Amino acid sequence: MAPRDTQLFALLDRELERQNTTLQLIASENFASRQVIEATGSVLTNKYSEGYAGKRYYGGNSIIDEVEPLAIDRVKALFGADHANVQPHSGAQANAAVYLALLKPGDTAMGLRLDQGGHITHGLPVSMSGQFYNFVSYGVDEQTEVLDYEQVRRVALEHRPKLIVAGATAYPRILDPAQFRAIADEIGALLMFDAAHVAGLIVGGQHPNPVPFADVVTFTTHKTLRGPRGGCILAKAQHGAAIDKAVFPGSQGGPLDHVVAAKAVAFFEAAQPEFATYSAQIVANAKALAAAMTEEGFRICTGGTDNHLMLVDLRSFDPDLTGKIAQEACDTAGISLNKNQFPYDPRSAFQTSGLRIGTPAVTTQGMTEAEMPLIAALVGQALRARNDPHALVAVRDEVATLCAKFTPYP
Ligand SMILES: Cc1ncc(COP(=O)(O)O)c(C=O)c1O
Repeated sequence: MAPRDTQLFALLDRELERQNTTLQLIASENFASRQVIEATGSVLTNKYSEGYAGKRYYGGNSIIDEVEPLAIDRVKALFGADHANVQPHSGAQANAAVYLALLKPGDTAMGLRLDQGGHITHGLPVSMSGQFYNFVSYGVDEQTEVLDYEQVRRVALEHRPKLIVAGATAYPRILDPAQFRAIADEIGALLMFDAAHVAGLIVGGQHPNPVPFADVVTFTTHKTLRGPRGGCILAKAQHGAAIDKAVFPGSQGGPLDHVVAAKAVAFFEAAQPEFATYSAQIVANAKALAAAMTEEGFRICTGGTDNHLMLVDLRSFDPDLTGKIAQEACDTAGISLNKNQFPYDPRSAFQTSGLRIGTPAVTTQGMTEAEMPLIAALVGQALRARNDPHALVAVRDEVATLCAKFTPYP
C-alpha cells in the first residue's frame, strides 16, 4: 500500500476551508449534497462499462446495468422526456455528441452570439463546434439587452441552419422554447435547447420546460441542478438511437460510472418537493441581489433577472474599473465571481466592463433575500477598497462572519 498522500489531501482540506469561509457567487457553481459526493467518490470509479445496459463490451456490469437505467428513468420522469443519455462526461461533451448525431461537418447551425451570452460550444471558432460546423449567430436588442426573436427569425430565414441552438451561459432572462420551435418549424430546422444553466430552474418549475418543444435538450448536472459535474442529453424518441451512438462510440469511451451514479442521486434529490422551494429561492435571491447591487450604484443589464444570475455593468459604479480588476479584488476579499462581457461591452473578453454573479450556491447554503443586501454591500466595499490590502482583509473577515452562519459543509 502506498503511504497516505498528505500533500494532496492537505490541498483538499484547504479547498474545503475556502468553500466554507468565502462567498461562491459563480453562477455555474453549486454545493453538491453529501450523498452526491459520496456516490462520486464510490467504488464505481473502478468499473469499465463501455456500451449501454444489457449491451456492454465488458463483463461484471450487473450492478451498473441497474445504476444507469435508474438514472435514466429518473431524469426522464423529471423532465417528461422520451429518451435520455446520462453518459456525457460534461456539458461540452453532450453538445458535441448532439452535433455529431444531427449534423454533418460543414452544416450550418445557429446559436446566440458568444459575446452576448452564448457558450463556446455554440460555435467559438477555436472550439470543435466552430471548426467542424458553420455556426451563424443571433443576438440581443442593443437597447433592452433582451433576446430579439424577430432577429432570431431573420437570421434563421437568411441562413436556413439545419440546427438552431437555444440556450446561454450568461443571459439573465427566460428563453422561450415555444418561440424557438416556431422559428425552427418555419425553416424546417431541428431545435436543440442547451439548458446547462437553467436545468434546475426548469425542474423546479421556475422556467418553461423545453422538452415538449425541442428535438434535443442538453444540460449540465452540476449547476442549478446541484449534482455531480457532468452532462446529460434528452431527446425525442426518433433521435434516441442516433444520440446514443454519437455519445458511445461516437465521441466517448467508457462512462464515468461513479458520476452516473451521482447523477441518479441528484435526479432523486431534484424530484423532492423541497427542490421546487430551493429553485424558487434561487430566483428570489437573484432578484433581491440585483436590486441591492443597483442600490450600490451598479447597473444591472436588462434591469434585473428572471433566473439565477445577473450581468453587472461596472461603468456606472466606476468607469475605470474593469471586470478583471474587480474579479481580482473580490477574490482577495473572499468573494468568488467572474468577469464577463455584457452585450455591446466596449472592453475585450479578457478585460470586460462587467461581472457575472449567481445565487445557486449561496441559496444552497440557506441564505435568503435577507442576506442579499449585505452581499451587495460587501462587493461594493471590496471594489471601492481595491487598492487597499488592509481594507480588503477587513471585507474578507466580514465575509467569513457571514459564511460562518451558513457553512455549506460543517
Ligand atoms: C450553456 C452551456 N453549455 C455548455 C456548457 C459546458 O459545460 P461543461 O463545462 O460541463 O463542459 C456550459 C458551461 O458553462 C454552458 O454554460
